[in-house]
Amino acid sequence: MRLGIAGLGTVGAGLVRLLEKHRERLQTATGKTLNVTAVSARDRNKDRGIDISAAKWFDDPVALASSDDIDVFVELVGGEDGPAHDAVAAALAAGKHVVTANKALLAKHGVELASIAEDKGVSLAYEAAVAGGIPVIKTLREALAGNEVSRVYGILNGTCNYILTKMQEEGLPFEDVLEEAQDLGYAEADPTFDIGGHDAAHKLSLLTSIAFDTQVAFDQIHLEGIESISPADIEAADELGYRIKLLGVAVRTETGIDQRVHPAMVAKHSAIAEVSGVTNCVAIDGDFVGNLLLVGPGAGAEATASAVMSDIRDVACYGLTGAPFVTPAWSLAPYQRATLGQHTGAYYIRLSVYDRPGAMAAIATRMAEQEVSLESIVQRRPKHQLPGTGVRPELGSPTSVVLITHETTEAAIRAALEAIEKDGKIAHPPQMIRIEQLR
Ligand SMILES: NC(=O)c1ccc[n+]([C@@H]2O[C@H](COP(=O)([O-])OP(=O)(O)OC[C@H]3O[C@@H](n4cnc5c(N)ncnc54)[C@H](OP(=O)(O)O)[C@@H]3O)[C@@H](O)[C@H]2O)c1
Repeated sequence: MRLGIAGLGTVGAGLVRLLEKHRERLQTATGKTLNVTAVSARDRNKDRGIDISAAKWFDDPVALASSDDIDVFVELVGGEDGPAHDAVAAALAAGKHVVTANKALLAKHGVELASIAEDKGVSLAYEAAVAGGIPVIKTLREALAGNEVSRVYGILNGTCNYILTKMQEEGLPFEDVLEEAQDLGYAEADPTFDIGGHDAAHKLSLLTSIAFDTQVAFDQIHLEGIESISPADIEAADELGYRIKLLGVAVRTETGIDQRVHPAMVAKHSAIAEVSGVTNCVAIDGDFVGNLLLVGPGAGAEATASAVMSDIRDVACYGLTGAPFVTPAWSLAPYQRATLGQHTGAYYIRLSVYDRPGAMAAIATRMAEQEVSLESIVQRRPKHQLPGTGVRPELGSPTSVVLITHETTEAAIRAALEAIEKDGKIAHPPQMIRIEQLR
């Protein structure tokens, strides 16, 4: 089987190294010779620490994709449009199997590309596109085929999980940890894509499609990043028995599918709270299997190459590996978004309240108007103002108040917070974090 690899960066070079190390075993297992016969990248002269001298070089990945020199096109360039899209479309149109790690491409063009693959009777495989080395696509497609999935959720971005873990362990502010993550190479120079939740949302949109047989609907995901999480939130969460995680959650509800990516509080004793640093995890609730949690490396040259190789192995063994989104593209249901504000659960709210008589009573009234009942209200003074320090806050200066609600709807919480803001009793916009009940 002749492999054409476009993109020889972190993942592409990792794949070549993996193949060098395990070629013999893989060839015996698949009954095929596995050779990289053509490659493409931008800079032909770059030292990549791999031997690609036997492969034909293409400056243009689109030309490589449809070339007669290859049987399988492996797209590891990246990007939702441009050369990655054009090359994958060209390879499929030319009747070649495609293996890709590109979640951005599939989140935007997945159904269109799946239709071409199905028309041409070839595979479009993308295990590496979701949660790197964790075999979650295979698990959903194959191992859980006999289940109706009601919920899929997880920690889908290692950069965010690293930052939140460090903030929790070292009490540092978001900006400092982000800088450290950039120095260590865990965060990009422009980190907005990761910390704003877009990367996690790309992955979630693919999981949702496979889990619920719907068209990919990345633009329908409710998205909040981790930029607003402060050490005060991390500290309060810790005292209340929670950890803060950036979660991607997709749940089937009566009105449609609720897809969201946002910071959430999870109980310290839950398995997901234990997933720290750059590690990812995906949990799946199936009607016959129950709750499943897969944990592992979500990125990196080796883990991602491992996932790419599993797709190449499947193509080598079976040729056509089935419809890319399990259900044929024509029969994927249009995505129906759950009614806005319907989400129910408990909430953590942190308010910066002006320390004036009547302020707390006004806040409690606004909550009561929306029938939000409170489990606890805690006034939190900064460390330098704690009793015993002799420092008293000035009357009228803002003081931090943390509220934990009983179960309520998101619509009720939002209405109450809007009214509280309008009343002028708080110095900054409120912080609101959902508390997720997870195993
Ligand atoms: N890195 C990870 O841990 C990881 C994990 C999961 C999924 N992925 C996905 O895997 C894909 C590749 O990621 P990566 O981290 O390996 O990226 P990368 O290190 O930036 O590598 C990208 C490669 O594409 C080549 N390239 C860029 N534009 C090109 C063009 N117009 N024509 C030909 N080649 C071009 C680059 O060539 P030069 O080397 O010559 O510049 C480079 O070799 C992305 O879709 C990413 O989302 C990555």
